Amino acid sequence: MHPPGGPPAKISLPGVEYVVAVASGKGGVGKSTVATNLALALQMQGQTVGLLDADIYGPSIPTMMGVPGVIDQATTPLPLDRYGMKLLSMGFFIPTERAVIWRGPMIDKYLTQFIGAIDWGELDYLVLDLPPGTGDAQLTLTQKVELSGAIIVTTPQDISLIDARKGLQMFREVRVPVLGIVENMSYFVGDDGKRYEIFRHGGGRKLAAEANTQFLGEIPIDPRVAECGDTGDPIVHRHPDSPVAQSYLSLAKAVMDELKQGEAPPQLPELNF
Ligand SMILES: Nc1ncnc2c1ncn2[C@@H]1O[C@H](COP(=O)(O)OP(=O)(O)OP(=O)(O)O)[C@@H](O)[C@H]1O
Ligand SMILES: [Mg+2]
Repeated sequence: MHPPGGPPAKISLPGVEYVVAVASGKGGVGKSTVATNLALALQMQGQTVGLLDADIYGPSIPTMMGVPGVIDQATTPLPLDRYGMKLLSMGFFIPTERAVIWRGPMIDKYLTQFIGAIDWGELDYLVLDLPPGTGDAQLTLTQKVELSGAIIVTTPQDISLIDARKGLQMFREVRVPVLGIVENMSYFVGDDGKRYEIFRHGGGRKLAAEANTQFLGEIPIDPRVAECGDTGDPIVHRHPDSPVAQSYLSLAKAVMDELKQGEAPPQLPELNF
């Protein structure tokens, strides 16, 4: 129990080593794509991984992971297994095309159940795909779950960077460690082998330096990313040798390193008497 007005008790996930939120201030920058492919890339590093779609209003994970339609709860054990990964999404219970118009307490209720009432078992990583913004889902997750860290996704444009900064600030205010920034849709390599910086480039790295956090990597634009996402077979799984998949593998390594470093014992000062 906590005193009235005090912080709510956190849900404990004893079998889960790291809970990592993939977030951004802005919509459409590629959070769900990054969450899904990062989860698969972590798995390719030999980790046991779960992926929780925390976007109750606009779940993308069922489409991206190829889970067609609503599941039969009576016969389907949860979390679902797909490509060896544990999955949970509101899209398994409500058709993704149906508009959900719920207030904050309902979002809180479902997310709390998704995390606390589902047996996630033993996992090295539980990756959370957050909705855009700094709203109810973010509030519930940061208050009720012991998050190991947050990854902020941005695209290179100023308009996205402004919102990424806000997202980063929110996690810091609620004392969730920001693991770093990922620049998605960073550049495009044409058939001519030339590199095109369609939305400009380097804003993510600049933001990381300015906010004193890590720059975790950049993901190029590749039409196959969208195609694979739409057909339910993410690029890291479908084309593991592609440059995009390789950039996801180095992102996964950077995330793993960052989490391990966070656990390093504090450096003790040298005492010179
Ligand atoms: N690197 C990339 N190259 C090409 N297309 C991409 C890339 N990253 C994401 N996309 C595409 O951009 C669109 C938006 O991506 P996604 O749904 O992951 O964004 P989001 O931030 O989760 O959006 P929302 O805020 O609505 O949750 C999708 O169609 C996706 O396939
Ligand atoms: Mg999304």
